[in-house]
Amino acid sequence: MKDILTAPCLVELVRTLTNMYDHGWDERNGGNVSVLLDESELADYLDLSAVIRTIPTGFEAPELEGQYFLVTGTGKYFKNVRYDPAKNLGILRLTDNGANAELLWGLSDGGSFTSEFPAHMMSHAARRTVDPGSRVIMHCHPANLLAMTFVHSLDEKAFTRRLWQMCSECIIVFPEGIGVLPWMLCGTNEIGLATAEKMKTTRLVVWAQHGIYGAGRDLDEAFGLIETAEKAAEVYMKIAHLPILHTIDDDGLRQLANRYGVKPRAEYLS
Ligand code: 13P
Ligand code: ZN
Repeated sequence: MKDILTAPCLVELVRTLTNMYDHGWDERNGGNVSVLLDESELADYLDLSAVIRTIPTGFEAPELEGQYFLVTGTGKYFKNVRYDPAKNLGILRLTDNGANAELLWGLSDGGSFTSEFPAHMMSHAARRTVDPGSRVIMHCHPANLLAMTFVHSLDEKAFTRRLWQMCSECIIVFPEGIGVLPWMLCGTNEIGLATAEKMKTTRLVVWAQHGIYGAGRDLDEAFGLIETAEKAAEVYMKIAHLPILHTIDDDGLRQLANRYGVKPRAEYLS
Protein backbone atom coordinates (compact mmCIF):
# COMPACT_ATOMS: atom_id res chain seq x y z
CA MET A 1 0.00 0.00 0.00
CA LYS A 2 1.18 3.51 -0.80
CA ASP A 3 1.28 6.25 1.86
CA ILE A 4 -2.20 7.82 1.97
CA LEU A 5 -0.63 11.22 2.75
CA THR A 6 0.76 11.19 -0.80
CA ALA A 7 -2.62 10.48 -2.43
CA PRO A 8 -3.36 13.33 -4.90
CA CYS A 9 -6.88 13.88 -3.51
CA LEU A 10 -5.50 14.37 0.00
CA VAL A 11 -2.56 16.55 -1.07
CA GLU A 12 -4.89 18.82 -3.03
CA LEU A 13 -7.42 19.14 -0.23
CA VAL A 14 -4.72 20.04 2.32
CA ARG A 15 -3.38 22.73 -0.04
CA THR A 16 -6.88 24.10 -0.63
CA LEU A 17 -7.83 24.22 3.06
CA THR A 18 -4.57 26.05 3.80
CA ASN A 19 -5.35 28.50 1.02
CA MET A 20 -8.89 29.05 2.34
CA TYR A 21 -7.47 29.79 5.79
CA ASP A 22 -4.93 32.18 4.27
CA HIS A 23 -7.78 34.04 2.55
CA GLY A 24 -9.35 34.68 5.95
CA TRP A 25 -12.44 32.68 5.14
CA ASP A 26 -12.06 30.14 7.95
CA GLU A 27 -11.50 31.61 11.40
CA ARG A 28 -11.08 29.05 14.21
CA ASN A 29 -12.98 25.92 13.03
CA GLY A 30 -15.09 27.91 10.54
CA GLY A 31 -15.86 26.19 7.26
CA ASN A 32 -15.96 22.61 6.02
CA VAL A 33 -15.26 20.82 2.76
CA SER A 34 -16.27 17.44 1.34
CA VAL A 35 -14.95 15.75 -1.79
CA LEU A 36 -16.65 12.78 -3.43
CA LEU A 37 -13.96 10.24 -4.33
CA ASP A 38 -13.86 7.42 -6.79
CA GLU A 39 -12.91 4.05 -5.30
CA SER A 40 -9.97 3.96 -7.73
CA GLU A 41 -8.48 7.07 -6.08
CA LEU A 42 -8.20 5.15 -2.80
CA ALA A 43 -7.56 1.55 -3.83
CA ASP A 44 -3.73 1.84 -3.79
CA TYR A 45 -3.71 3.62 -0.44
CA LEU A 46 -6.29 2.01 1.84
CA ASP A 47 -7.70 -1.42 2.64
CA LEU A 48 -11.30 -0.54 1.86
CA SER A 49 -12.59 -3.51 3.86
CA ALA A 50 -11.00 -2.23 7.09
CA VAL A 51 -13.64 -0.10 8.81
CA ILE A 52 -12.27 1.81 11.82
CA ARG A 53 -15.69 2.73 13.20
CA THR A 54 -19.21 3.49 12.03
CA ILE A 55 -20.76 6.92 12.66
CA PRO A 56 -24.55 7.50 12.32
CA THR A 57 -25.35 10.44 10.03
CA GLY A 58 -28.85 11.30 11.28
CA PHE A 59 -30.36 11.37 7.77
CA GLU A 60 -30.80 9.20 4.70
CA ALA A 61 -29.34 9.81 1.26
CA PRO A 62 -30.01 6.68 -0.80
CA GLU A 63 -28.49 8.34 -3.92
CA LEU A 64 -25.11 8.34 -2.18
CA GLU A 65 -25.16 4.74 -0.95
CA GLY A 66 -21.66 3.22 -1.18
CA GLN A 67 -19.97 6.52 -2.14
CA TYR A 68 -16.62 7.59 -0.66
CA PHE A 69 -15.99 11.07 0.75
CA LEU A 70 -12.98 12.95 2.03
CA VAL A 71 -14.31 15.42 4.62
CA THR A 72 -13.13 17.90 7.22
CA GLY A 73 -13.75 17.04 10.87
CA THR A 74 -16.01 18.99 13.20
CA GLY A 75 -14.26 21.55 15.37
CA LYS A 76 -11.04 21.30 13.36
CA TYR A 77 -9.01 24.39 12.46
CA PHE A 78 -8.09 24.69 8.77
CA LYS A 79 -4.81 26.34 9.77
CA ASN A 80 -3.76 23.09 11.46
CA VAL A 81 -4.73 20.59 8.76
CA ARG A 82 -1.37 20.56 6.98
CA TYR A 83 0.43 19.65 10.20
CA ASP A 84 -1.83 16.70 11.03
CA PRO A 85 -4.16 15.66 8.19
CA ALA A 86 -5.09 12.38 9.90
CA LYS A 87 -6.50 14.17 12.94
CA ASN A 88 -8.38 16.88 11.02
CA LEU A 89 -9.76 14.97 8.02
CA GLY A 90 -11.58 11.70 7.46
CA ILE A 91 -12.33 9.30 4.61
CA LEU A 92 -15.80 7.76 4.84
CA ARG A 93 -18.07 5.42 2.93
CA LEU A 94 -21.82 5.91 3.23
CA THR A 95 -23.86 2.77 3.93
CA ASP A 96 -27.41 1.83 4.96
CA ASN A 97 -28.94 4.35 2.52
CA GLY A 98 -26.65 7.04 3.90
CA ALA A 99 -27.78 6.54 7.51
CA ASN A 100 -24.27 5.43 8.53
CA ALA A 101 -20.77 6.52 7.59
CA GLU A 102 -17.95 3.97 7.79
CA LEU A 103 -14.68 5.62 8.75
CA LEU A 104 -11.82 4.20 6.69
CA TRP A 105 -9.07 6.67 7.57
CA GLY A 106 -8.48 9.79 9.68
CA LEU A 107 -10.37 11.54 12.51
CA SER A 108 -7.61 9.92 14.54
CA ASP A 109 -8.50 11.65 17.81
CA GLY A 110 -11.92 9.97 17.84
CA GLY A 111 -13.63 13.01 16.32
CA SER A 112 -16.51 13.12 13.89
CA PHE A 113 -17.19 14.61 10.47
CA THR A 114 -18.27 18.25 10.15
CA SER A 115 -21.48 19.31 11.85
CA GLU A 116 -22.60 20.48 8.40
CA PHE A 117 -22.51 16.92 7.05
CA PRO A 118 -26.26 17.00 6.21
CA ALA A 119 -25.89 20.16 4.07
CA HIS A 120 -22.85 18.66 2.34
CA MET A 121 -24.33 15.26 1.56
CA MET A 122 -27.74 16.62 0.54
CA SER A 123 -26.00 19.22 -1.68
CA HIS A 124 -23.85 16.53 -3.32
CA ALA A 125 -26.99 14.53 -4.08
CA ALA A 126 -28.78 17.60 -5.48
CA ARG A 127 -25.87 18.82 -7.62
CA ARG A 128 -25.31 15.37 -9.10
CA THR A 129 -28.89 15.26 -10.37
CA VAL A 130 -28.10 18.30 -12.56
CA ASP A 131 -24.34 17.67 -13.07
CA PRO A 132 -23.14 14.09 -12.62
CA GLY A 133 -19.54 15.36 -12.62
CA SER A 134 -20.05 17.45 -9.47
CA ARG A 135 -17.72 16.26 -6.65
CA VAL A 136 -16.95 19.12 -4.26
CA ILE A 137 -19.00 21.02 -1.68
CA MET A 138 -17.19 23.88 0.08
CA HIS A 139 -18.44 26.03 2.94
CA CYS A 140 -16.71 29.01 4.52
CA HIS A 141 -17.24 32.46 6.10
CA PRO A 142 -15.88 35.18 3.78
CA ALA A 143 -16.27 38.56 5.53
CA ASN A 144 -17.61 40.69 2.67
CA LEU A 145 -20.35 38.30 1.54
CA LEU A 146 -21.32 37.94 5.17
CA ALA A 147 -21.33 41.73 5.66
CA MET A 148 -23.45 42.18 2.55
CA THR A 149 -26.21 40.00 4.01
CA PHE A 150 -26.70 42.63 6.74
CA VAL A 151 -27.18 45.62 4.46
CA HIS A 152 -28.42 44.33 1.09
CA SER A 153 -31.77 42.87 0.05
CA LEU A 154 -31.68 39.05 0.29
CA ASP A 155 -33.86 38.73 -2.80
CA GLU A 156 -31.89 36.35 -5.03
CA LYS A 157 -32.37 38.35 -8.21
CA ALA A 158 -31.33 41.62 -6.52
CA PHE A 159 -28.35 39.95 -4.78
CA THR A 160 -27.18 38.25 -7.99
CA ARG A 161 -27.53 41.38 -10.10
CA ARG A 162 -25.59 43.42 -7.54
CA LEU A 163 -22.69 40.96 -7.63
CA TRP A 164 -22.77 40.72 -11.44
CA GLN A 165 -22.51 44.53 -11.61
CA MET A 166 -19.46 44.70 -9.32
CA CYS A 167 -16.91 43.02 -11.64
CA SER A 168 -17.06 41.88 -15.26
CA GLU A 169 -15.98 38.38 -14.20
CA CYS A 170 -19.07 37.58 -12.17
CA ILE A 171 -21.65 36.90 -14.86
CA ILE A 172 -19.08 34.74 -16.67
CA VAL A 173 -18.19 32.73 -13.56
CA PHE A 174 -21.69 32.27 -12.11
CA PRO A 175 -24.20 32.97 -14.93
CA GLU A 176 -26.85 30.92 -13.13
CA GLY A 177 -26.83 33.43 -10.27
CA ILE A 178 -26.52 32.90 -6.55
CA GLY A 179 -29.01 31.34 -4.13
CA VAL A 180 -29.70 33.07 -0.81
CA LEU A 181 -31.13 31.56 2.37
CA PRO A 182 -32.34 33.72 5.25
CA TRP A 183 -30.65 33.12 8.60
CA MET A 184 -31.39 29.58 9.74
CA LEU A 185 -29.98 27.35 12.45
CA CYS A 186 -26.83 25.75 11.07
CA GLY A 187 -25.82 22.10 11.40
CA THR A 188 -29.39 20.83 10.95
CA ASN A 189 -31.10 18.62 8.38
CA GLU A 190 -33.48 21.56 7.72
CA ILE A 191 -30.75 23.92 6.52
CA GLY A 192 -29.26 20.98 4.63
CA LEU A 193 -32.51 20.39 2.75
CA ALA A 194 -32.97 24.11 2.04
CA THR A 195 -29.38 24.41 0.75
CA ALA A 196 -29.75 21.31 -1.44
CA GLU A 197 -32.97 22.69 -2.94
CA LYS A 198 -31.10 25.85 -4.04
CA MET A 199 -28.21 23.72 -5.32
CA LYS A 200 -30.50 22.27 -7.99
CA THR A 201 -30.30 25.62 -9.83
CA THR A 202 -27.05 27.26 -8.67
CA ARG A 203 -23.55 26.31 -7.47
CA LEU A 204 -23.41 29.14 -4.92
CA VAL A 205 -25.70 29.48 -1.91
CA VAL A 206 -25.33 32.28 0.63
CA TRP A 207 -26.35 31.63 4.22
CA ALA A 208 -27.35 35.08 5.54
CA GLN A 209 -25.34 36.19 8.58
CA HIS A 210 -23.25 33.02 8.35
CA GLY A 211 -21.33 32.30 5.13
CA ILE A 212 -21.50 30.65 1.74
CA TYR A 213 -21.60 27.25 0.03
CA GLY A 214 -19.94 26.54 -3.29
CA ALA A 215 -20.13 23.42 -5.43
CA GLY A 216 -17.89 22.24 -8.22
CA ARG A 217 -16.46 19.40 -10.26
CA ASP A 218 -13.17 19.96 -8.47
CA LEU A 219 -11.73 22.02 -5.63
CA ASP A 220 -10.58 24.77 -7.98
CA GLU A 221 -14.09 25.30 -9.35
CA ALA A 222 -15.71 25.56 -5.91
CA PHE A 223 -12.87 27.78 -4.62
CA GLY A 224 -12.97 30.00 -7.72
CA LEU A 225 -16.72 30.53 -7.45
CA ILE A 226 -16.47 31.65 -3.84
CA GLU A 227 -13.36 33.75 -4.55
CA THR A 228 -15.14 35.60 -7.38
CA ALA A 229 -18.37 36.22 -5.43
CA GLU A 230 -16.37 37.39 -2.40
CA LYS A 231 -14.33 39.83 -4.53
CA ALA A 232 -17.58 41.31 -5.88
CA ALA A 233 -18.99 41.59 -2.36
CA GLU A 234 -15.79 43.33 -1.26
CA VAL A 235 -16.17 45.92 -4.03
CA TYR A 236 -19.81 46.41 -3.04
CA MET A 237 -18.92 46.95 0.62
CA LYS A 238 -16.28 49.51 -0.43
CA ILE A 239 -18.70 51.57 -2.56
CA ALA A 240 -22.16 51.00 -1.06
CA HIS A 241 -22.00 54.19 1.02
CA LEU A 242 -20.70 56.34 -1.86
CA PRO A 243 -22.57 57.98 -4.75
CA ILE A 244 -22.47 55.47 -7.65
CA LEU A 245 -21.59 57.23 -10.92
CA HIS A 246 -21.13 54.21 -13.22
CA THR A 247 -22.14 50.57 -13.35
CA ILE A 248 -22.32 47.65 -15.82
CA ASP A 249 -25.80 47.96 -17.34
CA ASP A 250 -27.86 45.01 -18.60
CA ASP A 251 -26.63 45.53 -22.14
CA GLY A 252 -23.06 45.23 -20.88
CA LEU A 253 -23.92 42.09 -18.90
CA ARG A 254 -25.49 40.58 -22.02
CA GLN A 255 -22.41 41.43 -24.08
CA LEU A 256 -20.20 39.67 -21.52
CA ALA A 257 -22.42 36.59 -21.59
CA ASN A 258 -22.38 36.47 -25.39
CA ARG A 259 -18.63 37.07 -25.66
CA TYR A 260 -17.82 34.28 -23.18
CA GLY A 261 -20.52 31.86 -24.27
CA VAL A 262 -22.47 31.59 -21.02
CA LYS A 263 -26.24 31.59 -20.50
CA PRO A 264 -27.23 33.97 -17.70
CA ARG A 265 -30.45 33.25 -15.87
CA ALA A 266 -32.86 34.88 -18.30
CA GLU A 267 -35.27 36.45 -15.81
CA TYR A 268 -32.36 38.20 -14.03
CA LEU A 269 -31.70 40.53 -16.99
CA SER A 270 -34.19 43.09 -18.24
P1 13P B 1 -17.63 22.33 11.85
O1 13P B 1 -16.38 22.61 12.67
O2 13P B 1 -18.54 21.36 12.53
O3 13P B 1 -17.26 21.93 10.45
O4 13P B 1 -18.46 23.68 11.78
C1 13P B 1 -17.91 24.84 11.25
C2 13P B 1 -18.93 25.69 10.57
O5 13P B 1 -18.57 26.51 9.75
C3 13P B 1 -20.36 25.53 10.91
O6 13P B 1 -21.17 26.15 9.97
ZN1 ZN C 1 -20.17 27.80 8.93
